[in-house]
Amino acid sequence: MRSDIEALRSEVEAASLATPAELEAYRLRFLVKKSPLTELFSRLGSLPADERAAVGKPLNELRQSAQARYDAAKAVLGNGPAGPAKATDDWSLPPAMPALGSLHPVTLTLEEIKQIFFRLGFSVADGPELEDDFHNFTALNFPPEHPARDMQDTFFIRKDASDPTRDLLLRTHTSPVQIRHMLDRKPPIRAIMPGRVYRNEAVNYKSYFLFHQVEALYVDKHVTFAELKETLVMLAEMVFNRKVEYRMRPSFFPFTEPSLEMDIWYESPGQPGRWMEILGAGMVHPNVLQAAGIDPDEYSGFALGMGVERMAKLRYGIDDIRLLYENDVRFLEQFR
Ligand code: DAH
Repeated sequence: MRSDIEALRSEVEAASLATPAELEAYRLRFLVKKSPLTELFSRLGSLPADERAAVGKPLNELRQSAQARYDAAKAVLGNGPAGPAKATDDWSLPPAMPALGSLHPVTLTLEEIKQIFFRLGFSVADGPELEDDFHNFTALNFPPEHPARDMQDTFFIRKDASDPTRDLLLRTHTSPVQIRHMLDRKPPIRAIMPGRVYRNEAVNYKSYFLFHQVEALYVDKHVTFAELKETLVMLAEMVFNRKVEYRMRPSFFPFTEPSLEMDIWYESPGQPGRWMEILGAGMVHPNVLQAAGIDPDEYSGFALGMGVERMAKLRYGIDDIRLLYENDVRFLEQFR
């Protein structure tokens, strides 16, 4: 048994304890409940009493020195970042900074759009995401059979058979806030209406069932199409921070007449340039002014609406809208 103890002692003394891995291997070999050391201790019991003391002493010393070697090596290597001081610590280094969150690219884009409109004298108005048919469709001059009123696009919350204008739905655009805002106050009106909107769309790289829009509404005496056009060009150049090549195509929306869609020429690395639609706009339809209690013979106005995710994708070269909703920190922390 003495020779077993000596063999174990040489093994303990020869073990290298230079790395955390070696430290852990050492602990598992010598310091756990089932180790050669505890095995020797258990053999002590079967020795004659006089021999027991003679063998027990060196065995106890071995246990203590094995533990002491471990403790000393552990103090030098430390317990990771929170461990005791290491020889390599440099106290003059700046402290490690805690990870900070960052603003979401949709928020950053929306903030920029808001700042642009603030400079033009627009304020911000707000409306509910749970809307009724009247504000989302009827007052915006959607005819009763318009396809947008179909289940295909709209998330309905409650159908009201006796009065369809009271159907409850998740707003499909921010245009209903135009109606609320006009019913609320007298012209002149200059407001933007940012917010979340919902559509029953299949999810893919370019569409999602919720997204954000910014609506802008300007109503006063003698608001002209020329003012709309100037505003749109300024807006595009300020959002993209450069001179943009643009075109305006005639279009149709029930709530504006005439209506247009604006495209900008867009070039991203590795792809051929192409026209990209950035917004819809037009002169507020007289029926809409009337539904909102404003006399169309006295006042005119323009409105525009754009998708914030789309703007964010173009600004930052993001090619898949789903990235904006996965909350992957590796994606989000690229935007500061
Ligand atoms: N509401 C339209 C949509 O969701 C966008 C829009 C187009 C808003 C033209 C407007 C406008 O104010 O004048 O597709």
